[in-house]
Amino acid sequence: MQTRLVLPQALASIHQALAPMVGTPPPAPDGAAQDAVTGGPSMEVLELFPRYVLKGCLPPSLLTALRELATEVLKAPERSPDASRKLAGQLALQLELGPQQPAVLELCREVILPGCERWIRHVIDRQPPQGRGPWTEGRYGLQIIDVWLNVQRAGDYNPTHTHGGSFSGVLYLQVPPQISGASFDGQLCFHGPEEWHIQSFRTGMAEYVLPLPGEFYVFPAWQPHSVPPFRGEGERWSLAFNVVAVPQPAGAARPPQMPLVTGLPTGGGNPLGANPANLAGNVSLSSGRKRPPGF
Ligand SMILES: [Fe+2]
Repeated sequence: MQTRLVLPQALASIHQALAPMVGTPPPAPDGAAQDAVTGGPSMEVLELFPRYVLKGCLPPSLLTALRELATEVLKAPERSPDASRKLAGQLALQLELGPQQPAVLELCREVILPGCERWIRHVIDRQPPQGRGPWTEGRYGLQIIDVWLNVQRAGDYNPTHTHGGSFSGVLYLQVPPQISGASFDGQLCFHGPEEWHIQSFRTGMAEYVLPLPGEFYVFPAWQPHSVPPFRGEGERWSLAFNVVAVPQPAGAARPPQMPLVTGLPTGGGNPLGANPANLAGNVSLSSGRKRPPGF
């Protein structure tokens, strides 16, 4: 059955009167500010419901140390726990790292924890005080629960996925030159809540960022993201991490905000298998961990 649209007489007259003006900017009212784009009355477009993703850059010395660590780890990948069975990524290698590795510890202390803290302050401090929940300074702790190394080769990819915990993030150690932004290949994509559909003006639902060595991103664990494959030679190396933010019971002492690791074996072996009770402070990685859930 077809529905015929019938305009009321008054509305039809308005359409008739406006027809010659289509495409012509209406004049601004006397004395009113003029819109820079249309030339008519002042207007603005509100950008609603933003996603917050923190972006930063590693100190060069830490980037060098992490590259050296990755090189060492990849000389004997069988010595590091394989994270692949817990991850969505279809990658050549996904290997757990641990706080016994000094560069990882420095990364946690100097970059990951401050990055999460910065994200929380940026987002929560914009809420009215009564709307900040437990995320006011001193009322929560941050715990890093996973750090792992990703090695992506041609054809490997990471499908759209989310993480466990509160925050996730990634930093880049090495990127083949053909991942250049000229195509979607090998870029990190953040996904919005709906499908991108330009025909109906549904834009802004996919944001691609070009991975550059030394740059890092921190985002809420629920934020969907993906990495398409790339073509050609080389390996794309990144480190990823999961962090939980834990509210503290009223009156409880504030937990340490910096990672403190004691009692861990040093050098070689598989220290990630250490008793989690030995992991003091707020770095405890996946192996042997019961909760909270990461990955
Ligand atoms: Fe991920």
